[in-house]
Amino acid sequence: MLTIGSIEVEAPFVQAAMAGYSDRPMRRLARRYGAILTISEANLDRLIIQPGRKRGRLLHVPEDDHPVFAQLIGADPDEVARAAVAMTDAGFDAIDINFGCPVRKILGRRRGGFLLSQPDAALAIVRGVFTAVGSTHPVTVKMRRGTDNSPEAAGKVFRILDGVFEIGVSAVTMHPRTVKQRYVGPSDWSFLARVKEHVGDRVILGSGDLFSADACLRMLRETGIDGVTIARGCIGNPWIFEECLALSRGDPLPPPPSIGRQREAIRGHWSDLLDEYGEDMAAKIMRKFGIKYSEHHPMARPVRDAFIAARRPRDIEQILDRWYDPDADWPPVKRRERHGDLIAAGAQP
Ligand SMILES: Cc1cc2nc3c(=O)[nH]c(=O)nc-3n(C[C@H](O)[C@H](O)[C@H](O)COP(=O)(O)O)c2cc1C
Repeated sequence: MLTIGSIEVEAPFVQAAMAGYSDRPMRRLARRYGAILTISEANLDRLIIQPGRKRGRLLHVPEDDHPVFAQLIGADPDEVARAAVAMTDAGFDAIDINFGCPVRKILGRRRGGFLLSQPDAALAIVRGVFTAVGSTHPVTVKMRRGTDNSPEAAGKVFRILDGVFEIGVSAVTMHPRTVKQRYVGPSDWSFLARVKEHVGDRVILGSGDLFSADACLRMLRETGIDGVTIARGCIGNPWIFEECLALSRGDPLPPPPSIGRQREAIRGHWSDLLDEYGEDMAAKIMRKFGIKYSEHHPMARPVRDAFIAARRPRDIEQILDRWYDPDADWPPVKRRERHGDLIAAGAQP
């Protein structure tokens, strides 16, 4: 059970916010395999409050996409608050504010992870959003453990942490890497334990290096936090959610996904991408997910190469026919050993 303000879900395994990934089709896929709560990609507040091509798509929440948190990123309290109103009006169930993004362009505009160096400015944004939507919707915050490794940076993070809970936020997601560290090097789970001990019964979600169900359960156990947000570990690997549910029930880990189940997941994802984006864009997106899906295939290398070479919808269909025929004689599927660090995280928030 995980409770975030008025939202209660039966399991603490959340699909994390990931720019360029956690769009509607990915969230739908995650839910199909057991994720209950999902978080959108980081949305720039201005894209939400100004008229523009993308706005309609970002503000569309279908009936089967609940509960879903909208993540916002911005620098001006008034603008972020206006975007929060637009997103809750559109049907998002909660607002998550991003103080973690390490992308240089975002930092340069005093957004995302930059705000960890400016507790007053960060708290003004949270206060603005809470005043605008906090009486009807949970507000949450995403943070890292500091801008860098210094005790001063950690001190600012604790100031922000205390401040946001005082304002009334319902939960904080902590990714215990520094902004400077981006995605390189291990995330420091001991910091999660420290944060949880500090905040007591306030809700903390953890993030960082959750590449297997076992890691998710271990993070919960070792740090005492309330829930986990699965990020790179669920790209091309929606089965991680059902695996988490099995382990949390005390059941053994389910077998790795058969070729038939892999086909079924990719097919469903592909069909949702086509509905969402149309053929050309869908093929581009499927290509990057396909590279991750290929890690489960017993012929991982050629399947990966086929996805890398895919440009058009026809190429994706051919991959499904050639490499995901459930009746063909494939070597046994093994549990994938390598993890999501191949994703060029540096290019994304
Ligand atoms: C490609 C990519 C995009 C991301 N985009 C976001 C984002 O939009 N908002 C956010 O709060 N975190 C974002 N993150 C951070 C993840 O949610 C997560 O905190 C981080 O990847 C650590 O978890 P992991 O080591 O299990 O992947 C992103 C990470 C990646 C790899």
